[in-house]
Amino acid sequence: MGKMVIFGATGGIGSTTARKLFEQGYDLHLTARDKVKLTALADELGASFTRGDVEVPEFFRRVADDAGDEVSGLVYAVGTLNLKSIARLTPEEMQRDFRVNALGAALAVQSLLPALKNAQNPASIVLFSSVAVLQGFKMHTSISMAKGAVHGLTMALAAELSPKVRVNAIAPSLTQTPMTAGMLSNEKMTEAIAKMHAVPRLGNAEDMAALAAFLISEKSGWITGQVFGVDGGRSTLRINS
Ligand SMILES: NC(=O)c1ccc[n+]([C@@H]2O[C@H](COP(=O)([O-])OP(=O)(O)OC[C@H]3O[C@@H](n4cnc5c(N)ncnc54)[C@H](OP(=O)(O)O)[C@@H]3O)[C@@H](O)[C@H]2O)c1
Repeated sequence: MGKMVIFGATGGIGSTTARKLFEQGYDLHLTARDKVKLTALADELGASFTRGDVEVPEFFRRVADDAGDEVSGLVYAVGTLNLKSIARLTPEEMQRDFRVNALGAALAVQSLLPALKNAQNPASIVLFSSVAVLQGFKMHTSISMAKGAVHGLTMALAAELSPKVRVNAIAPSLTQTPMTAGMLSNEKMTEAIAKMHAVPRLGNAEDMAALAAFLISEKSGWITGQVFGVDGGRSTLRINS
């Protein structure tokens, strides 16, 4: 079986997914920018790795070279959190959010496509969208645009790459990871946000990794072209009136 390639492998969701896949016996290839964290995780999981920045297109060629000729799965768990009003956003910030969340995901798939098509069984791709795509939230213009592109990418790729490759996405609501640590340092605010969910808590990396590990595995072999809300009901349930 080919490798499972995880972009953003050292993050909250990426590292939890990587450990879960390792426990299930998969061979992993990991990527991120921070050398210390990446090498420590790769050592722990006996994984190969490529260090680099998804904003640099050349990085994807190196990942493809390092990951080998056969790739069974790709998880793209890289993202940004840049919550600002439209009045305050700069073009550079909006372009960066698009590059990191959406263009990076597309380039990751493009660079690994030959290896994904080489997989003995249909390969699987898991991308990350957001609850803030199908529902409008204040201060989310830039991330909603970028994750909206990930939603579209998921659907287009699922059609184009069938039947050799399955493509799905997870759309989390607010999840406790290093990405949101700053925002969630205020206990009162954290509690208030938790109460907006029908299941009244914030998400955790395990909530996301459990589904990511399922979608990347052959157990989900008849699932493609889906975007799953893992969000405590936030995207579909109105609970306060
Ligand atoms: N947490 C949430 O509430 C939430 C909500 C909705 C969607 N999501 C999505 O879920 C996915 C995982 O998020 P998370 O919360 O696990 O984030 P996280 O803890 O911040 O992890 C992000 C990972 O991506 C890597 N990364 C960041 N920028 C990079 C870059 N320019 N080039 C290469 N690697 C980069 C980070 O490592 P380095 O810094 O070392 O590169 C890290 O491994 C993301 O797509 C995010 O947008 C999260």
